[in-house]
Amino acid sequence: MTNSFNHLFKNKILPNIRVFLTEIYSNLLSTQRKMSFFDNFFNDTGVSKSSQKSRTFIGKVTPIYQKFVINPEVSNGISYAGILLPFSLKFRRLVKRPILSFFANHIINYPTPINLTYAWSFGFLAGISLLIQIFTGLVLSMHYSPNIDLAFSSVEHIMRNVNYGWWFRYTHANGASMFFIVVYAHILRGLYYGSYMAPRQLLWCSGVVILLLMMATAFMGYVLPWGQMSFWGATVITKMFSVIPFVGERIVEWLWGGFTVNGATLKRFYTMHFVLPFVIAGFVLLHLALLHKDGSNNPLGVDDAEMIPFYPYYFLKDIHALFVYLLIFSTLVHFYPNYLGHPVNYIPADSMRTPAHIVPEWYFLPYYAILRSIPDKVGGVVCMFGSILILFTVPYTNFSMIRSAHFRPIYKVFFWIFVADFFLLMWIGQMPMRNSYILLGRYATAYYFIFFIFLIPVSGYIETLLLTHKIENKN
Ligand code: HEM
Repeated sequence: MTNSFNHLFKNKILPNIRVFLTEIYSNLLSTQRKMSFFDNFFNDTGVSKSSQKSRTFIGKVTPIYQKFVINPEVSNGISYAGILLPFSLKFRRLVKRPILSFFANHIINYPTPINLTYAWSFGFLAGISLLIQIFTGLVLSMHYSPNIDLAFSSVEHIMRNVNYGWWFRYTHANGASMFFIVVYAHILRGLYYGSYMAPRQLLWCSGVVILLLMMATAFMGYVLPWGQMSFWGATVITKMFSVIPFVGERIVEWLWGGFTVNGATLKRFYTMHFVLPFVIAGFVLLHLALLHKDGSNNPLGVDDAEMIPFYPYYFLKDIHALFVYLLIFSTLVHFYPNYLGHPVNYIPADSMRTPAHIVPEWYFLPYYAILRSIPDKVGGVVCMFGSILILFTVPYTNFSMIRSAHFRPIYKVFFWIFVADFFLLMWIGQMPMRNSYILLGRYATAYYFIFFIFLIPVSGYIETLLLTHKIENKN
């Protein structure tokens, strides 16, 4: 028995192990050879690694393929060893086909900086939120009636009679809140790490368009249950367009499809609420295409970060973030489903009775606070819309040489005050119109705009000045 095992080990197992090890060794050797080739290529171009680093540090456009070429480990070593080795030859051939290769390039092998934190999972979670909203919305639309006499009771019918209707409705309503939480976190991440700076200006602007579409969709969705807050919220917001000179009143009537918010308004809001998420999905694809053009920014804000493939590293990291997200989401849906809503919206719409306080959903409160803090009607509406549109200007007013706020001591302070200011505005937005709150709202509104118009450009300018002064002194 022992003899036969010895024989088997010597003649069969050992030679196989030897072949296996030799194969790995030769693979490593060829990787080494390719690495030195890339090193030579790199030296041939006459650009040293350190000067490349300092140039990319200030935001030079670096196409993604260049990163591959420059960083030899990405193209030959860990990434492909980690990714392609576990798959069969058949699979490797399969991913070369046109459609599959698209997914392989953009999801599996997509090169991602090695140092991304969980702050980079918010984009993925925003995508998941969009899918959840579309799916639950489709189910709700099968039972909802966009008619002013039926809308309120059709929602109650969903809650009481439709199988798991309550679950779909609560998931859809709280899903909107979760969507805004992750998108606000996504935007703040971008503002902190300077993700909007060159070469990602267009990526940022496509995000702002998505934000505007999301806001329009959420606003119209809130009108559909046809409760008191739905009706009066729709009335207050649509009436804002009357401030447009000369044609304002006519535009409002055109939006309403009549002389008040009425059945025609509900129907068109329902249609738009149904179709806009698909338009958003289109913009998300554009957003991702723009992201993949230059690749992700990273917490250090450098362009030549080491790269690893998206799968399995960030795929697993995003899945972990997804579980945390789902934990919070399901706690909301199953234990506090009405916590973020307003009880007045459980009263059917009545055009003859105005509620004592008209307040929007929590995610619109900061903008509502801005609207109310300006004494002039036209000024209030302009500032409210301006507070969102001003996001478009950020990539073009930041003159900093450094992207990440980690290395921007002055900007970092202003950024965190801005975050506190945003929450302060959110709180003021739901308080009654008393003098003390109005005054506080004015200060908070002032800081909101000063941050974008003055502090972003000036802090960047001062920091650049200090940095160049330090470099010049060193030389
Ligand atoms: C439906 C809404 C959105 C979805 C599904 C979405 C999706 C994504 C995804 C998947 C990424 C890559 C992963 C990440 O960096 O987090 C990303 C990156 C990015 N997004 Fe969005 N996004 C949305 C809204 C926005 C908004 C509103 C903005 C800005 C106003 C924005 C600006 C950016 C920027 C600048 C990046 C690059 C970040 C970096 O590389 O550091 N996105 N987005």
